[in-house]
Amino acid sequence: MDKNFLNDFPILRSKMNGHPIAYLDNGATTQKPESVVRSICGYYGGCNANPHRGVYELSVKATKAYEDARRKVAKFINASPKEIIFTKNATESLNLVAYSYGLNNLRGGDEILITIAEHHSNLVPWQRVAQATGAKLNYIYLAPDGNLLQADIDKKLSKRTKILAVTQISNVLGLVNDIKTLAAKAHEVGAVVVVDGAQSVPHIPVDVQNLDADFLAFSGHKMLSPMGIGVLYGKRKILEEMPPFLSGGDMIEYVEEQTTTYAELPQKFEAGTQNVGGAAGLSAAIDYLQGVGFDTVERIEHDLTTYAISELKKIPYVELYGCDAPNKVGIVTFNVKDVHPHDVATILDAQGVAIRAGHHCAQPLMKFLGQNSTCRASFYFYNTRRDVERLIEAIQKVRGTMHIA
Ligand code: ALA
Repeated sequence: MDKNFLNDFPILRSKMNGHPIAYLDNGATTQKPESVVRSICGYYGGCNANPHRGVYELSVKATKAYEDARRKVAKFINASPKEIIFTKNATESLNLVAYSYGLNNLRGGDEILITIAEHHSNLVPWQRVAQATGAKLNYIYLAPDGNLLQADIDKKLSKRTKILAVTQISNVLGLVNDIKTLAAKAHEVGAVVVVDGAQSVPHIPVDVQNLDADFLAFSGHKMLSPMGIGVLYGKRKILEEMPPFLSGGDMIEYVEEQTTTYAELPQKFEAGTQNVGGAAGLSAAIDYLQGVGFDTVERIEHDLTTYAISELKKIPYVELYGCDAPNKVGIVTFNVKDVHPHDVATILDAQGVAIRAGHHCAQPLMKFLGQNSTCRASFYFYNTRRDVERLIEAIQKVRGTMHIA
């Protein structure tokens, strides 16, 4: 019998539009357990000061909170603390790689390979790098089951490929890409591998050494932490050779009138005052997640995903996308025939069910799927079968509410 997680998440015991909340938008943002909220309040109430700059006790405590969080993140993904850069979110992490690594290492004739299922944050920065350097941006498309097209991987990964940037789990389809195999193939041709882990790190164990990823980006807010804290992992040797992304306080060694030398890793990439409260929250979130255990997280999400898909398949006017592949984690994307996804989401909201509707920051994927937008239910371990039933019951009312026979 699983623990009743709702005891740890007061917001999930509150109401939305007069109904108990069925919160199914975890792909966008997860809710925060009380232990995370306490850790943020504890930081601001007990040891708030600017880290790395003061010699007084409060500043030393703030530095300790920040660097303890870095060590915890490093251990969580099997990296070294010098390889962990705190950012605002996965988007900023991916931009850091694109601008600091991509702009400085690519030139005309080089190629960047990404997948058609990328979130805009792992797509638009590469478009800009391609435009600025003259490199070509290539795409791996999807097979009918939603998985990456093997023929495209084999054909498009070549000696010209300098960067393979790929999501570990699609934020729209929930399909898991085999990063270890992709990284091995990419390294054979000398490409650097950038992994968008925004939808994977919160849901499955991720070991950067086992995957042999060169970079991994993820966000705190999708894994029980506050918004405004994210992580970039990078292999130390590569990070050492990269120039800073942002410039300013704390990332320098010496500044002369015309020149500057930079701080060592990871400070070289952390200009300005950092989000120490967010880092403390992320540290508490990792503790909570490890207390739950990824075995439990994966088992619950697998049960909810398969249950939702089997119930949705019984509704003749629901169309599902990428739901027949077995390697799927926690995300179900669908449309209700003849009803715009925004209307579906609004009708569900009135019944206390929170889902995301729209293009999910993946417009090229939407176009590939032949849709302008879709509805998306995304689960986390604190969701229950009752939440799925509430989703199904609410969907069954959509067409009637729209006066469609
Ligand atoms: N990237 C987030 C999502 O997929 C916002 O919803």
